Amino acid sequence: MSKLRKGARCQICKTKGETKKAVVYLPHHRLSLCKEHYIQWFEKRVEKTIKEFKMFSKKDKVLVAVSGGKDSLALWNALVKLGYDADGFYIDLGIDDYSQQSKELAQQFAQRVGRPLHIVSLKEELAPIPEVDRITNKPACSSCGAIKRYYMNREAKKLGYSIIATGHNLDDEVAVLFGNTLHWNIHYLKKQYPVLMEEKGFIRKVKPLCKITEKEAALYTVFNEIEYIEYECPFSEGASSIEYKELLSKLEEQHPGTKLQFYTGFLKKMYPLLQEKTEESQPTVCKLCGEPSFTDICSVCKLKEKLSKSGNVSVNH
Ligand code: AMP
Ligand code: FES
Ligand code: ZN
Ligand code: ZN
Repeated sequence: MSKLRKGARCQICKTKGETKKAVVYLPHHRLSLCKEHYIQWFEKRVEKTIKEFKMFSKKDKVLVAVSGGKDSLALWNALVKLGYDADGFYIDLGIDDYSQQSKELAQQFAQRVGRPLHIVSLKEELAPIPEVDRITNKPACSSCGAIKRYYMNREAKKLGYSIIATGHNLDDEVAVLFGNTLHWNIHYLKKQYPVLMEEKGFIRKVKPLCKITEKEAALYTVFNEIEYIEYECPFSEGASSIEYKELLSKLEEQHPGTKLQFYTGFLKKMYPLLQEKTEESQPTVCKLCGEPSFTDICSVCKLKEKLSKSGNVSVNH
């Protein structure tokens, strides 16, 4: 993206007989674009992805999970601009300044797009992430992932939305794919698809930015003057996904298009092979809260019990 030739013109403007200067070069698409046409390119790419994977239509009520970061805000902006019925959902994780700032940015953005932002606070529902971290021996991020998925699903159902859209981008998906391949986590590879269809209490989950890189999303927010939280969650430090991202970005620099090729190649060639029938456990319902779960008691209820034993929360099923 950085290797913009001096004096390069926007290729779309050129076809219209205009000579606007390009401000961005997308090496793996071999495209030089002006700001206006970059925004258009980005939104078209999101729409194409939504259609390619039959994620949802303009009739569906979509709940966008927003973290206050660039990806989810870029996604929400693009969906609203494209005419989708998309509202926001924010989970206040109770991680000090990080949560405070990201919440404010999400609220500020909701006002800008004139759409409701639903908020759930872990302090009220369960316990803030730093407390969860204290009573578990797993990395905070892994408990946090399960907690986020639980509340996204429960709240979307409660509020009458049929789709949850997250801001996972190509870099996220490729890092997960790389990790799962490195460790041959077949169980996870089988489920790595940009659409997870609704089943037994789970709502449909989609990732419309799965073909957009982190840099592309960042540029879209900058061009649209969207303010977002620029630093990562303090618990993400040292996560292996960050190492994988760095490694893959080095490869991408040398060979533009590697990430996209790896990901789309997996979806086209490997994912279908993995769908052959094997015995997979089926979801049932959690005995305590009634939400869908693959075990008798779901991970959030297990956490609640642990927290109540340690005197951190009043259990309220
Ligand atoms: P992450 O797991 O932090 O990389 O985030 C991946 C996606 O999950 C984001 O793009 C959002 O769509 C969603 N997400 C992350 N954190 C939150 C949050 N606190 N509230 C709502 N959605 C979130
Ligand atoms: Fe959940 Fe970092 S965002 S632990
Ligand atoms: Zn142009
Ligand atoms: Zn439960």
